[in-house]
Amino acid sequence: MMSPAASVIARDAADQAPAVEVAPGVHWIGALDPGLRTFDIILRTANGTTYNSYLVRGDDGVAVIDTVKAEFADDFFARLESVARYDEIRVIVLNHLEPDHTGALPELMRRAPQAQLYISKRATAMLKALLKPSDDRPLVYKTVATGDEVSLGGRTLRFLHTPFLHWPDTQCTWLVEEGVLFSGDVFGCHHCDARLFNDLCGDFRFAFDYYYAHIMRPFKSYVVDALKLIEPLPIKLIAPTHGPVLRDRPRRYVTRYRELSTPSLAERIDQGERSLIIFYMSAYGSTARMAEAIRAGAEEAGGIRVSLYDLEGGEIQPFVDLIESADALVLGSPTINGDAAKPIWDLLSSLAVIDLKGKLGAAFGSYGWTGEAVKMIEDRLRGLKLRVPVAGLRIKLIPTDEELEECRDFGRALAGALVRGEQGRVIDFADLG
Ligand SMILES: Cc1cc2nc3c(=O)[nH]c(=O)nc-3n(C[C@H](O)[C@H](O)[C@H](O)COP(=O)(O)O)c2cc1C
Repeated sequence: MMSPAASVIARDAADQAPAVEVAPGVHWIGALDPGLRTFDIILRTANGTTYNSYLVRGDDGVAVIDTVKAEFADDFFARLESVARYDEIRVIVLNHLEPDHTGALPELMRRAPQAQLYISKRATAMLKALLKPSDDRPLVYKTVATGDEVSLGGRTLRFLHTPFLHWPDTQCTWLVEEGVLFSGDVFGCHHCDARLFNDLCGDFRFAFDYYYAHIMRPFKSYVVDALKLIEPLPIKLIAPTHGPVLRDRPRRYVTRYRELSTPSLAERIDQGERSLIIFYMSAYGSTARMAEAIRAGAEEAGGIRVSLYDLEGGEIQPFVDLIESADALVLGSPTINGDAAKPIWDLLSSLAVIDLKGKLGAAFGSYGWTGEAVKMIEDRLRGLKLRVPVAGLRIKLIPTDEELEECRDFGRALAGALVRGEQGRVIDFADLG
């Protein structure tokens, strides 16, 4: 999506930079998209973005690493042609198959039919879906894993398997002789500046952290695995697929990923203590009373820190942070017009940025006649891959003393499940095609 001001900027950027040598024998041949204001529907960007593609020249041929979004193909091919001939291209590496990096691929394959595609094993099905091969047009590609290499003559590309950062098929490519890491979207951000290098692009730290928060944060455990492969490398330059090329102190960005993916000090201090958080909405106090009783019941179990919040009085973002470090999430809502209250859905729809797998979930609420809210919340919690070990609790209108005891039992049961670490079937990202 482009604002009027942004379209002026986009027009001004029409006379764009040529291919840029970022390391000896390595050229940036990507595209600038300074007018973009919303990326992938979910991310805002004040400075547009770039689709970075790179060309590596060896003694025996040339490699192209990633391409660009389809509508920027002309810019990409013009830059490519300024530094190489199509018949020199022996290798095309796709670090992941997202459309903003594969848009120009079909045309590149048409222009350089001799080039061999290198993808991760997980990318196979996606490549077939993308290129729709047929009997008379078979797909020729090679899958690679960590440590596999391809030589261009004096230039060696070595692959690192870094799945789920942020697509299942993600890999990084290491140019051994020059110490260049082609990192795909890892260490990328949406920040467009034709000067290209991080030391020339102003302060884009907020864009870097914002990108991490929305794109990499759900996959923190995979980031930690990838860092084990990346941190030992003698990196001279990081060449990501979006945003500035990181030549000035590139290790700072690796360190930042480590910081962002490491549990906070508070979480580490709490180690051993389980955390259960109850959020509720309540118009007339019935769901609030249930929440208090559930807290009392859960607190009876030792070793569990129970927190209670009225969702009406808080901001979503700090609650998302709390939930990320909690072990159990319990949501209470009255039924209002056949649904749960909107802030509950607002909270739930904000949780896609964190990894919820294996956390425990539960729902409760007061109702008047149909009481749909509890079941709807439970279904959503399951959809978000939480375990729901205790059936949701509904109480008609104002809870009696006996019903409040039921609420305490509900809290006790949740605490018991948490202490025992009960396992339910949890869908893993890796299970999803
Ligand atoms: C505007 C409004 C709409 C409601 N719609 C429903 C409904 O669709 N189904 C239902 O079971 N109860 C409905 N109720 C009844 C509430 O769920 C019930 O009063 C409940 O006890 C309120 O809990 P609270 O005290 O925690 O707000 C509605 C109440 C209000 C005020």
